[in-house]
Amino acid sequence: MTLKTKLGTRAPKTAIILGSALGDVVSIVEDPLVIPYTDLPGFPVPKISGHAGKLSVGKVGGQEVAVLAGRAHPYESGNAAVMRPVLDQLKEAGIETLILTNAAGSLKTSIGPGSIMLITDHINYAGMNPLIGQHGDENFVPMTNAYDPALRKRFLAAAKSEKIALKQGVYVWFSGPSFETPAEIKMAQVIGGSAVGMSTAPETIMARRLGLNVAGLSVVTNLGAGIKGANPSHEETKREGQKAAAHMKRLLPRVFKDMKK
Ligand code: HPA
Repeated sequence: MTLKTKLGTRAPKTAIILGSALGDVVSIVEDPLVIPYTDLPGFPVPKISGHAGKLSVGKVGGQEVAVLAGRAHPYESGNAAVMRPVLDQLKEAGIETLILTNAAGSLKTSIGPGSIMLITDHINYAGMNPLIGQHGDENFVPMTNAYDPALRKRFLAAAKSEKIALKQGVYVWFSGPSFETPAEIKMAQVIGGSAVGMSTAPETIMARRLGLNVAGLSVVTNLGAGIKGANPSHEETKREGQKAAAHMKRLLPRVFKDMKK
């Protein structure tokens, strides 16, 4: 049974994908219908710690939203389009807006661990693209304003209301799973990046191909390798992610409350 069928009368228009260590944010969903990924054909079952593999549908800030705790990463299999069945089913189920969240390493000391960064644009430095091998003109997806400017304004306004210091910047996608070298971090700074991470960009590319509006939020868990004080590890990612999760739990409902106005 596809997601659309499983949802029955519930009709969320927005989906949120929770990144590493943000699994706990699922508690913002009121009266949730919980569907394990294993019940949804083609949904990848996350293999790494910090990722649950469940979709919860219910009210957030008064609006019906689907929250997906856990994603599969291209580095798990080498398949950049690993999240495609998820995005295709979200689209089929009527989702119009996709909010992508991730854990990221910062390239700027002004965006320190525990910060949340609103993604303004991305650089694909992973050497892959989820649309490679697809045929048809629809694959020449324009990537100008891929991170929807109107949605970004809503996030900035919601952060202001909640007194959360929301940073903004460019996300650089590295394939991982090894962390970057100090030389790679230096390069990412030079080419205009603000944060580095191992997800989100391929999902944005596929979502834009489907015509979804995209917002992206990075939870900064560490400074990039080689920056003074940096020591990226999966443990640090989970720990700092949990701190920022508390802010995320206020920011997201506020965005949906304000959207109703
Ligand atoms: N690099 C890439 N991905 C990450 C990092 C990092 O430093 N921290 C959390 N995810």
